[in-house]
Amino acid sequence: MALTSIPGASSNNFSQEVQAALQGFLPGGLRVFTSIGSTNDEALAWASTGAPDFSLVIADEQTHGRGRMGRSWFTPPGAALAFSLILRPTPVERERIGLFAGLGALSLVDALQTFGVAAQIKWPNDVLLAGKKAAGILVETVWMGMEADSVVLGMGVNVTPQAVPPPEGLNYPATCVQAEAGKPLSRILLLRAILQAILRRRTMLTSPTFLHDWESALAFRNEIVRVWVSNEEVFEGKVLGLESDGSLRLELPERTVTIIRFGEVHLRPAL
Ligand code: BTN
Repeated sequence: MALTSIPGASSNNFSQEVQAALQGFLPGGLRVFTSIGSTNDEALAWASTGAPDFSLVIADEQTHGRGRMGRSWFTPPGAALAFSLILRPTPVERERIGLFAGLGALSLVDALQTFGVAAQIKWPNDVLLAGKKAAGILVETVWMGMEADSVVLGMGVNVTPQAVPPPEGLNYPATCVQAEAGKPLSRILLLRAILQAILRRRTMLTSPTFLHDWESALAFRNEIVRVWVSNEEVFEGKVLGLESDGSLRLELPERTVTIIRFGEVHLRPAL
């Protein structure tokens, strides 16, 4: 594990805790920050200058954390997990870039399970606890021509109540892991469990087992949802499951089946 020395990199308790927890475990490099704009921005820059596979950027606080669809992501200090993992896809993985969102979400579900917390995935990228959003995933790709050179898997987890944004900033009901676990929990141990789960799940990324487990963890399975595509087209239908590339299969009222691909998409239960 290499701790790269760069301006702004943290050398405080947070950094020491992260380094101790990941000692001898992280296959790539590590950059830890007390405060940063966005770990995804740092990871994208690092990926394009040769970061090795499974390198991690993590910060205690983000001042300009980014969410999907141009939204901002709230990361106050001491309350959340905010990290970006750089993955260099193998040729096989390159054919299935859409699966990386599922890799992140399912690994978080696995990790939470080890703490006795049951979670579900609101397709495509959110993790829900008791029906409320506790985490979001932002996957961004560095392209070399037509080929995906690296994937940045950014994950934000609300660990303590302080990480939950104020209600006026919410577009979906939110919660935190601690509230649902009913007890305090170490975000650093949670980080380790998530990374361990990603390492394990990645080995089966293109297998039927991965898709089956991802599908089993889906929220609103067999329920009627509304899906907005690019904020223009709205589909209402029953969640049937996933396609092999991770797209969502929806049964429309007239019983035709439509496939919703990743992108600027968001989903809600139909009221
Ligand atoms: C979403 O639900 O809209 C996705 C949120 C992703 C937030 C994480 S926090 C770590 C990483 N850095 C960012 O700027 N965003 C992601």
